[in-house]
Amino acid sequence: MICIRDVSFSYFGGEADRWALRDIDLDIKQDEFIAFLGPNGSGKSSLSKLLNGIEWPTEGSITVDELSTTDPADIPSVRRLVQIVFQNPENQQVGVTVGEDISFGLSNIGWPHHDIRNRIRWVLDLVQLNVDEDRLVSQLSGGEKQKLALASVLALSPRYLILDESTSMLDPIARSQFVDTLHAARKEHPFAIIYITHHLVEVLHADRLVLFKEGRIHQIGKPDDILTDEDLLTSCGLELPFDRSLALSLRKAGIPISVSPSIEELRKWL
Ligand SMILES: Nc1ncnc2c1ncn2[C@@H]1O[C@H](COP(=O)(O)OP(=O)(O)O)[C@@H](O)[C@H]1O
Ligand SMILES: [Mg+2]
Repeated sequence: MICIRDVSFSYFGGEADRWALRDIDLDIKQDEFIAFLGPNGSGKSSLSKLLNGIEWPTEGSITVDELSTTDPADIPSVRRLVQIVFQNPENQQVGVTVGEDISFGLSNIGWPHHDIRNRIRWVLDLVQLNVDEDRLVSQLSGGEKQKLALASVLALSPRYLILDESTSMLDPIARSQFVDTLHAARKEHPFAIIYITHHLVEVLHADRLVLFKEGRIHQIGKPDDILTDEDLLTSCGLELPFDRSLALSLRKAGIPISVSPSIEELRKWL
């Protein structure tokens, strides 16, 4: 479990009025799919950087499976347990070839050459990236590059995987393939997902949604509770997928349609 206790954070060491995060209290379970939502600048990325010890809380504390994110003796383990896939895969790629990219992190933690080769094949299969390990990274499409970024972190067996707007540079088809791949990989090899996005459609099946606003947790709850409150969503800069929004309008007009209707149900009531 990740335990975030009374955390406030400033990039400027706690100067008044320049807080990126304020009074955050949250536990994230090891098997959870949790989403961080909210407008730009609301603190989502800052909190992710605190979770794997890239930045340290100005106040309060964070532990990951009882390891402190600020104890130098614990940090190497924390960084392995909590991995981040960022928005732009190119900022994350370190190898010239697909195989080199995946092996980089594994060699760093001392994996033998033979095991690395097996691991590369295993993880390419896991993320359904059907390319040769000698393939040049520069020849991959955007969607393939993002799958490679996912493969390179999954090779390290994270317990908590943060996806910080990882799909925002992908077209809708590549985006939905990436999301499917992620969930398929998670079934085979469980890990918690901390999913940061502006696309609500990607988090309809999350266990919990956390809405951030101005560096604070504004609301937290199950998707079916949060995603029926359009005023709340609008105030956090979020837009419901069309079918959900339509269902809410129909409900307001007294039609007893469910909040998450199937296409058939929508068709029937329309
Ligand atoms: N490297 C940085 N240095 C100084 N301020 C930053 C830095 N990164 C983010 N901030 C500020 O911290 C606040 C939270 O930003 P961020 O965590 O990036 O939000 P989000 O990911 O929700 O868009 C914003 O006010 C932003 O301007
Ligand atoms: Mg961000």
